[in-house]
Amino acid sequence: MILNQGFIVKRKSEQRQIEPFEMRLVNAKELNQVIDLQHHVYEHLPNKEVLYLDTKAEMLEDLYNGALIIGVFNKQDRLVSYRYVSFPGYEQRNLGRDIHLSKQELHKVVHLETTLVHPDYRGNRLQSLTLNKAVELIEDMNMRHLICTVSPYNLFSLYNIMSAGLNIKALKKKYGKAEDDGLWRFILHKDLKKEQNVNLSDVVLLKMDHLKEQRKLIDSGYIGYHLSKESQIIQYAHTQ
Ligand SMILES: CC(C)(COP(=O)(O)OP(=O)(O)OC[C@H]1O[C@@H](n2cnc3c(N)ncnc32)[C@H](O)[C@@H]1OP(=O)(O)O)[C@@H](O)C(=O)NCCC(=O)NCCS
Repeated sequence: MILNQGFIVKRKSEQRQIEPFEMRLVNAKELNQVIDLQHHVYEHLPNKEVLYLDTKAEMLEDLYNGALIIGVFNKQDRLVSYRYVSFPGYEQRNLGRDIHLSKQELHKVVHLETTLVHPDYRGNRLQSLTLNKAVELIEDMNMRHLICTVSPYNLFSLYNIMSAGLNIKALKKKYGKAEDDGLWRFILHKDLKKEQNVNLSDVVLLKMDHLKEQRKLIDSGYIGYHLSKESQIIQYAHTQ
């Protein structure tokens, strides 16, 4: 089933070409394309820390358990972008645990897992387009919490995800073998059933890569609700 279609700009060196695209769910047989794209994007990253690689086996198992991979295919039917969305239920990996959601809320958590765009196709707002589609697809599923992790060194991803209304609720190391091991990640959350208002009389500004100061703020109840792309400064405030 086609979820969306239209035109995207492919940029290669100085050249720009307009191409048709098609958005549809990726099936298990197409997982090799997902893994190939993931490795291509990873190889071209200046800072490898921003992307935690998923294995094919993990994704396959997750797909059989109801996860979705929304793919964007170019005119040659090659995958140029995808967004991986999963439903962790009561599993230990549920990020709702990191932001202290109650047990009964955990099964209403949707994980926005990896999302990436081939370097030649960046700038088409595909990260936002596939996020909107994900929200549309889960509309009838009685899900409530969108949660994801983003590296504090990943300006483009953090900007896009915060612009979609997800707020920073935690900052900790993830994907390691022990508590204090792994990669630094913000944990961002959006409650689809309740708007989050902040107290604007008490705003604190911090650079996105100043980790120690942000951890202190978050520990004292602040949430990060806005990022300026130009200054890379995050605005923190208490919730109302
Ligand atoms: C994060 C990411 C998915 C965003 O891609 P996107 O949806 O194409 O981004 P946008 O369309 O919002 O881009 C807006 C602008 O930022 C630029 N931009 C986006 N990502 C960029 C990047 N990684 N490096 C440099 N510039 C980038 C775009 O070219 C565009 O510039 P323009 O306004 O001059 O046209 C993409 O950068 C990416 O795949 N990064 C690597 C993987 C990753 O970090 N994923 C997130 C963690 S799972």
